[in-house]
Amino acid sequence: MYEQASHSLLNEILAELKPEIGNQRLRHFYTRLGANFYAIHSLFHLLYGERADFKEQMVSLVETLATRYIERTPALRKSDLAREKDYNWFLSQKWVGMALYCDRFADDLKGLRANLPYLQELGINMVHIMPMLDCPPDHSDGGYAVRDFYRIDPRFGTTAEVEALAATLRKRDMILVLDVVVNHTSDAHEWAQRARRGEQKYQDYYFVFDDRETPDIYEETMPEIFPATAPGNFTWDAEMGKWVMTVFNNYQWDLNYRNPAVLIEMIDIILFWANQGADILRLDAVAFLWKKMGSVCQNEREAHLLLQLMKDCCQVTAPGVLFIAEAIVAPGEISKYFGEDAINAKECEIAYNATLMALLWDAVATKSAAVLNQGIKSLPNKLERATWLNYVRCHDDIGLGFDDNDIRRAGFDPAQHRRFLIDYYTGRFPGSVARGLPFGENPKTGDARISGSLASLVGLESALESQDEAAIDAAIKTIVLLHSVILSFGGIPLLYYGDAVGTLNSLEYLADPAKAADNRWMNRSNFNWNKAEKRHQTGTVEQRIFSALKKMIALRKETQAFADFDNRQLLALDNPSLLLFSRADTHRNRVLVVGNFSDAAQTLSIEALRAHGYFLQDGMKDLCSGTRIGMVDDALVLPPLSCYWLAD
Ligand code: GLC
Ligand code: GLC
Repeated sequence: MYEQASHSLLNEILAELKPEIGNQRLRHFYTRLGANFYAIHSLFHLLYGERADFKEQMVSLVETLATRYIERTPALRKSDLAREKDYNWFLSQKWVGMALYCDRFADDLKGLRANLPYLQELGINMVHIMPMLDCPPDHSDGGYAVRDFYRIDPRFGTTAEVEALAATLRKRDMILVLDVVVNHTSDAHEWAQRARRGEQKYQDYYFVFDDRETPDIYEETMPEIFPATAPGNFTWDAEMGKWVMTVFNNYQWDLNYRNPAVLIEMIDIILFWANQGADILRLDAVAFLWKKMGSVCQNEREAHLLLQLMKDCCQVTAPGVLFIAEAIVAPGEISKYFGEDAINAKECEIAYNATLMALLWDAVATKSAAVLNQGIKSLPNKLERATWLNYVRCHDDIGLGFDDNDIRRAGFDPAQHRRFLIDYYTGRFPGSVARGLPFGENPKTGDARISGSLASLVGLESALESQDEAAIDAAIKTIVLLHSVILSFGGIPLLYYGDAVGTLNSLEYLADPAKAADNRWMNRSNFNWNKAEKRHQTGTVEQRIFSALKKMIALRKETQAFADFDNRQLLALDNPSLLLFSRADTHRNRVLVVGNFSDAAQTLSIEALRAHGYFLQDGMKDLCSGTRIGMVDDALVLPPLSCYWLAD
């Protein structure tokens, strides 16, 4: 019944499209619209069905999809068709990503293009360029406070240059990831400006209130994201004479998706960037998309419905384009951003594996894989056609967002353990080699997160200062160990731009009043090309890290067992220092990944391996070094902070 009704509605809507659209022969568009219309219509109806202008809004949505389809270039349409056939293309082990700032890495888009050989030398073939859109320079939140969603900041270049870069990448068999900041705009965005000037239409794009009554109710249940620098979730706008919801910084106005016009605008923006050649779009802060009084305003069901709608719409216009969910949320919530009760992702195909990231940092501080193992055991299953984005560091702080139960199961008290981790990484814990800073400390809740660069957090900075060779060696080994896990775990590894050459904390941000209060900038330094040159000088720190990562990346790409087809098995051990999991390809070739997080040598007994179906006679071959790892007294010996990819 409903399906029939939705079909006749489809016809009605098609009849109302502008003639310049209606008259075109858009073969694939109509096929895909037909295939997705039922889903799109029912989701749109669930969210906006009560509105008198529901049908008009539907027409406007379909018009947006068609207009952007008409614009899609033949090359991109061809790639859509190819990816529809090879629909698991992104689960292959061949992809290795890096996130970088265009300006900080290479000045601008031209510079980035000129420096692609550096990325290729390392083996990177997926480039995530941090947001480059026009933002007010003093209130940019690193690109996440967008003033104009259709305009590249002229300091970086032009939209045409993005398109050209995408084409260049494609020729080199590389792919491009761009951000779409879906949750909020800058207060300098035209919509915000017009809202300020009193235009009701645009006030309806945001959450705007005359007095504190409603904001106060919201505040009762909403946590604070930046408690230290932007406390509360509402900001008084003097010009408008009203309160506006600002969950992140006070200059970032949250968009109100109860208004379908907002959703349609955002879908248009998504498709616009898909049409500039992005292969994957990173949707920022997706957990926050729906606000509901009396809730924490994160992970709401409607946020998921919105993402499903965005995905279905993208399927119609640009089906080759994937979404990454940036949802830094509890382990039990993260996998829902793939979509629940499905086989193929129906929201985002890829999600940040923030849980694994935080667990890795736990293992480094505790020199033990106890919590890491528990946490991996309780990692939710992902869908078949979906994958993780595995990372060690990114441009943001590290939140210790794993589960208290996993900390307990590993034998620690959660509150004490978290306090230890914060103390450890901020160098307050006696003997700590880490040089991080607390981020977002909240005296009301006792919560805190951690800022700092990978190298400084694992002790490279302090080791270089004291010229302690053993400590330098340990820091380098830790960097390699962490990468060996993200490269082999299953999912797309995402490196962070300075990490392959051991970039330390940068304190330049302190000199800039617009940045000084936000210590996440410690880990957003200007890439030092002179330092990077040292990757070719034998024995330098840069060379030791770079060459090890380069080697592992190349190996990952040729090791089919590292493709992500639910082919990982965590192997239980009674030695908590070790992380051990096996990966297998379709021909049952296995790779055993072993990491020793302890600063002492550990052994892995033949018996333990036998229990998991490994029958060894004379050790195992480590793919990374090409050597056999020998046995001593019926056990493999694993030096401190070592990692191996072992083949039978
Ligand atoms: C995401 C970004 C972060 C930004 C926030 C608000 O979490 O990664 O850098 O501050 O969204 O846009
Ligand atoms: C994100 C997360 C938070 C993160 C922050 C950026 O969306 O909720 O954990 O650190 O915004 O700093």
